[in-house]
Amino acid sequence: MPTSCNVVVLLSGTGSNLQALIDSLAAAETPARICAVISNRAEAYGLQRATAAGIATRTLDHRQFDGREAFDTALLETIDGFEPQLVVLAGFMRILSPGFVRHYSGRLLNIHPSLLPKYKGLHTHQRALDAGDSEHGCSVHFVTEELDGGPLVVQAVVPVQPHDTPDSLAKRVHQQEHLIYPLAVRWFAEGRLRLGEQGAMLDGQSLPSTGHTIRT
Ligand code: GAR
Repeated sequence: MPTSCNVVVLLSGTGSNLQALIDSLAAAETPARICAVISNRAEAYGLQRATAAGIATRTLDHRQFDGREAFDTALLETIDGFEPQLVVLAGFMRILSPGFVRHYSGRLLNIHPSLLPKYKGLHTHQRALDAGDSEHGCSVHFVTEELDGGPLVVQAVVPVQPHDTPDSLAKRVHQQEHLIYPLAVRWFAEGRLRLGEQGAMLDGQSLPSTGHTIRT
């Protein structure tokens, strides 16, 4: 097992996934260590969570940059200053440029609140309800140039209940996010998870196209 795995977390908002990572990594024997949290929004509550946990923070306001490329270049330089082995998107609500994604190929993870490839983009809980789906959930995947489209690592399936609203469904999906993201980060940090030519691999075996599935 690698002795250490520095992780940089990028976020734009509340940071409940960051908190789940902080709590889970503190409770487990793992080489993963969050060395910095970076936000494009100064008011993101996730920054306060990081500070409370003694983690370095940086804010890079995308509105202060002349376009996506300029912002992504500055972001990349800030991230690389922490020399991370893994970069984790935890509610980072920015589309990343192809050059940025290529730079972190195989070491950039994202979490998305749907059973990808269903419902890329926004309003996923509403869309699952509108479609009358009996199951919804969340996905962790390696990031590639296709938005919300990279190889899947792990999905948690959440049954939709008859009287669910977008909020009630979101709440149960969020609970699962808080389990599967720390799991995927620990796998990566322990050297068990990697991106192979054909997709995500766990313990030397190709994962199915839906990733590892957890049913609740
Ligand atoms: C999470 O639900 C995450 O899946 C979603 O943002 C939320 C952040 O919550 N990410 C995306 O939609 C990315 N496409 P948090 O700030 O409480 O962790």
